[in-house]
Amino acid sequence: MKDFNYYAPTEVVFGERSEEQVAALVKKYGGTKVLVHYGGMSAVRSGLLDKICGLLDEGGVPFVKLGGVVPNPRLSLAREGIELCRREDIDFILAVGGGSVIDSAKCIAYGVCMEGDVWDLYLGKAEAPATMLPVASVLTIPAAGSEMSEASVITNEEGDVKLGYSNNLSRPKFAIMNPRRTFTLPPYQTAAGVTDMMMHTMERYFTLDSDMDLTTDLAEAVLRRMKAAVFDVLKNPEDYRQRAQIMWGGSIAHNGLTGCGIHDDWATHQLEHELSGMFDVTHGAGLAAVWPSWARYVLSDLTDGPAIHATRLSRFVRFAVNVMDVPNDFADPDGTAQKGIEAMERFYHAIGMPINIKELIGRDITDEEIKEMTRKCSRDYTATCGAFKVLKADDMEAIYRMARG
Ligand code: NZQ
Ligand code: ZN
Repeated sequence: MKDFNYYAPTEVVFGERSEEQVAALVKKYGGTKVLVHYGGMSAVRSGLLDKICGLLDEGGVPFVKLGGVVPNPRLSLAREGIELCRREDIDFILAVGGGSVIDSAKCIAYGVCMEGDVWDLYLGKAEAPATMLPVASVLTIPAAGSEMSEASVITNEEGDVKLGYSNNLSRPKFAIMNPRRTFTLPPYQTAAGVTDMMMHTMERYFTLDSDMDLTTDLAEAVLRRMKAAVFDVLKNPEDYRQRAQIMWGGSIAHNGLTGCGIHDDWATHQLEHELSGMFDVTHGAGLAAVWPSWARYVLSDLTDGPAIHATRLSRFVRFAVNVMDVPNDFADPDGTAQKGIEAMERFYHAIGMPINIKELIGRDITDEEIKEMTRKCSRDYTATCGAFKVLKADDMEAIYRMARG
């Protein structure tokens, strides 16, 4: 069994009255002057931004505001935020929003404490920082899991390059989660969010390690619960109970719990980041467009030998039976596995997600675009991705071609 460290230091403050604690929490974690960072209009329209600012005022916590974070958050705004924080002597960043706002906040928090250019961290050119400003969030969309994760993903508009950087320092100090705030999510964002959190679980579930049974059990519980809850909230967006399952599920899916004792994969994520980097699509929808092709490619691969193929096959069968409710045909494990992938495609369509790139971007992807994504995903043909099946540039290109639709 793989040894592991499990580190999830974020204080989760969950429930209908959770926002009321915001000023006390900022002070508890050492904030004396706050950057309130937010996205487009959703937090303004819902009154959440005003409420949070009012509560900080009442609690005697000075703050400045910086809005305008867009999905697939941009480096240019983070750079603006770094300058603003230095000018205003900010020592704490509060993200009011989703993964994009939280990731932008993390990028700013690194940059303020760095001598050089923050983008060098994402390029892997800078040394890991010794310190950064503390970050916390008031979460408005369960999806990316950034409210508890060590990752941030930033898009540099110059070249449409989307890169992630991970460091335990950036795990947020606290996450305020009020499921009621997610009632206003459009169906597409709700479904893309659930797709993303399920994929965070699946990136860990599809592993060649099989001895940490509890991790696998937990992953299946998360997947089954999210799969059921999403239909309830699409039918009734104000279903507090099911919104709560999804909100907590998004954090559990990406705070490391479903990855203890196993080697995780992340190939679908890396393949997808090139799609959202190039076409500015919603991350969760991009994952749905890639996963079925990744799954079929990996399942049919025989190049790593019969033992590894058998291990992969048994994992796909287990997924089909335990998660997708496919009857187990013991005489035809490959057929059972294939039915699991087909069931996942039906699920994606049922919640309004695409299952290929054509459905995602609304047109045929060109050969040049596939080659460009392959070049970027393989870091100019120098890097592989994935662990369940290690993908080289040729594999990546083949999967993009299968996924074109
Ligand atoms: O900008 P506003 O107006 O707030 O609208 C947002 C945005 O358009 C809207 N929204 C958010 N809360 C809402 C709401 N609309 C109505 N009511 C609400 N309560 O939803 C849209 C999407 O928001 P965004 O923050 O982009 O969503 P998400 O949380 O899915 O974040 C996506 C980003 O996270 C990255 C993705 O690559 C993508 O850039 N990821 C970050 C990870 C991490 N840091 O650990 C891991 C993930 O795998 C992912 O890569
Ligand atoms: Zn994701």
